[in-house]
Amino acid sequence: MSDERLVLHEIDGHVATLTLNRPKALNALSPELIDELIAALAACDADDQIRVILLTGGPRVFAAGADIKAMVEATPMEMLTRRSIERWARVAATRKPIIAAVSGYALGGGCELAMMCDIIVASETAQFGQPEINLGVIPGAGGTQRLTRALGPYRAMELILTGATISADEARQHGLVNHVVPVEGLLAEAMRLAQLIATKPPLAAQLAKEAVRAAAETTLREGLALELRNFFLLFDTADQKEGMRAFVEKRKPQFTGR
Ligand code: CAA
Repeated sequence: MSDERLVLHEIDGHVATLTLNRPKALNALSPELIDELIAALAACDADDQIRVILLTGGPRVFAAGADIKAMVEATPMEMLTRRSIERWARVAATRKPIIAAVSGYALGGGCELAMMCDIIVASETAQFGQPEINLGVIPGAGGTQRLTRALGPYRAMELILTGATISADEARQHGLVNHVVPVEGLLAEAMRLAQLIATKPPLAAQLAKEAVRAAAETTLREGLALELRNFFLLFDTADQKEGMRAFVEKRKPQFTGR
C-alpha cells in the first residue's frame, strides 16, 4: 500500500476500509481522488469476499469539499464536459452497504459524500455543512436534495443559505448521523457495525440497501413494488434456504453469499 495513493484500501475479513488520503488539502475531493474512490468502490462491488465498505478520512478530517482550486477558473462548459461532479453519482450507485466514519470537517462535497453512504458514524469533532454559498455557488453533488431529505426542508434551507455547520450531536438529533463517539473510538465503532452487517447474508443486505434507498427516490407505489421484487428474488439464493432452514432447525445459519 503506497502512501501516494489518494485512497488507501485495506481488507479485514469481509470489510474493506477505504481511507481518503490527501491530508495536506484536508482531503479535498479532486477529480483524481474521486476517480480513485470510484475505482476502489467498483473493485469492492466486484469482489465476492467484500460484503461491507467502511469509508473514512481518518481522525482529523473527513473531507473539506470538492477541490476549489480545480474549479476556480472553470467555465460552465468545462464543468459540464469534465463530468467531474456527475461522476460522484457512481459512489451512490455502489451496491454494497457503505458506512461512513466521519471525523472533523465534512463540508460541501465532503458532507455530500458522507450522505451518499448508508450509515454515518461520527466522532465528537465532526462538523457537517454545505458552505458553497460562501463561494458563490450551491451544492452540486446532491446536497440540496439529500440534506433536505435528511434534515427536513427548513433546517436544510437554513444550512444551505447561511453556509453554517452543525455539530455531530446536532446531526444525530436530526437524523443525519447514526452514532456519535469519541474520536479515538470512531474507527472501532464503525468497524463493529461493518463486521456485524458482514455476518448477514450479503445479497439480502444489497437488496435491502436498494429498497431502503428507493424510499427516498421513488413514489410509495414504486418503492413497494421494488421491495416486493427484491423480497421474491432472495428466494433464489442459497442464503434464504439456509437462513430459514437454520431457524426451523434451531441452529445458527452459515451464510455463503450465494
Ligand atoms: N479545496 C481545495 N483545497 C482546500 C479545500 C477545498 N475544498 N479545503 C481546504 N483546502 C486546502 C487549503 O487551501 C489549504 O491548502 P494550502 O495549505 O495549500 O493553503 C489546506 O487545505 C488547509 O486548509 P486551511 O488552511 O483553510 O485550513 P483551516 O483549518 O484554516 O480551515 C476549513 C479549514 C474551514 C475547512 C477551510 O479549509 C475551508 O473553508 N475549506 C473550504 C470548505 C468549502 O468551502 N467546501 C466546499 C467546496 S465546493 C463543493 O464542495 C461543491 C460541491 O458541492 C461538489
